[in-house]
Amino acid sequence: MNIAIFASGSGTNLQAIIDAKGRNEIKGEIALVVSDVPTCLALERAKKAGIKRLVVERKGFKSKSDFEKEIMRNLKKENIGLIALAGYMRILSADFIKSYENKILNIHPALLPSFKGAHGIKDAFEYGVKITGLTVHFVTADMDAGPIILQSAVKVTEDDTEETLAQAIHKEEHKIYPRAIQLFIEGRLKIEGRRVRII
Ligand code: GRF
Repeated sequence: MNIAIFASGSGTNLQAIIDAKGRNEIKGEIALVVSDVPTCLALERAKKAGIKRLVVERKGFKSKSDFEKEIMRNLKKENIGLIALAGYMRILSADFIKSYENKILNIHPALLPSFKGAHGIKDAFEYGVKITGLTVHFVTADMDAGPIILQSAVKVTEDDTEETLAQAIHKEEHKIYPRAIQLFIEGRLKIEGRRVRII
């Protein structure tokens, strides 16, 4: 199965997926890394790993629909069967999501449905929760609300700052995301309403 990873930032999750693939823990091919930020570190990581890169900037297109069509054209060309969002900072349209229904995964740095949105770690830390974590879920048109695949809890200790908490969450993300991707590749994720059964 050909996988596309979408990233806009530092790409540490992308790196974890590349490394898992290197250990043969992911049986698919990372065929394409898609980014909307030409200077992001994720693209550097892809280059180093010899993975094909596609940069599509929103500003290069009149409409969001044209922007997404260009991405989609390339996904079709690469025969992509799974999209993994890994710090991709754009919201995909309902039409895009429909074209890849139940084939798009996302990782969110909080225990959904708590602390949705772009600042999951900060929001949880400031709220004062004692346990937070991360969630891998299917992407639906409703942001951060798709069926949950895997979650992992991370304790907030007395000494934690937002930064140390972020580090702990990222470390855990790097273990869980490759695992979820491999479960998808093996066809072991069965969506039943809001629930995902791992078979
Ligand atoms: C991760 O914390 C992920 O949960 C969120 O965006 C961040 C991406 O980090 N969706 P990186 O680019 O993989 O380092």
